Amino acid sequence: MEYKIFKTKEEIAICAADFFCDALAKNPKTVLGLATGSSPIHTYKELARRVTDDGLDFSGVSTFNLDEYCGLDGSHHQSYRYFMEENLFKKVGILPENVHFLDGKAKNFDVECTRFENELRSIGPVDLQLLGIGRNGHIGFNEPAEKLHSACFRVELAPETIKANQRFFAPGEEVPRSALTMGMGTILSAKKIVLIATGESKAQAIAHMLKGEISGQCPASFLRTHRDAIALLDEAAARNLMQ
Ligand code: GLP
Repeated sequence: MEYKIFKTKEEIAICAADFFCDALAKNPKTVLGLATGSSPIHTYKELARRVTDDGLDFSGVSTFNLDEYCGLDGSHHQSYRYFMEENLFKKVGILPENVHFLDGKAKNFDVECTRFENELRSIGPVDLQLLGIGRNGHIGFNEPAEKLHSACFRVELAPETIKANQRFFAPGEEVPRSALTMGMGTILSAKKIVLIATGESKAQAIAHMLKGEISGQCPASFLRTHRDAIALLDEAAARNLMQ
């Protein structure tokens, strides 16, 4: 797995946005795998800027998001669907019929995971998958575990993930305890994977991902088995790599 170290989040965003532009230039009907959280926000801003200033065109693109909290519907302010609408979809003009999301309010989560996985198989594979990383090395919501899941599944969130994600919720508002997520096989079936990590809180996970044992203890370490995966890091996130 290749990695690059940058001085600022903006430089990371430019590099990540360039990968999107390359994919779109090759195929205007590119299939994108998308992530939420603070890591991709600057990239989404940069893409919105390129739509306005450079005429970048997302009208042919299909998107599949990594994950969604159980119990939140797409209009809930903390849902990942809402995050994507606000930060990307409505800014770059992705057509609603081309947006694919796991439904956190589905009646039967197993059926919902199969539906999403089948949809991805019929439209995909994902050409470009964007990822963040959890402090404990999770990708999507694939939490550290002895045995990882290959396909989409319902996951009980790790206590440290619930704690880390509390910052997005208002005081007194509870972080959902479970989520639906693409599985490891689903993520690794993307043709190209770009992971963004910034800040000291990610340094340990990044060191394990790139230099540690490939194991369920750090799900992101399996990205090293992918033939075209790159990590875009700032110096703080890369700190433990120099030791
Ligand atoms: C959540 C998401 C992940 C994301 C991670 C890191 O748990 N499920 O997809 O990568 O948070 O988020 P952040 O980028 O805000 O640090």
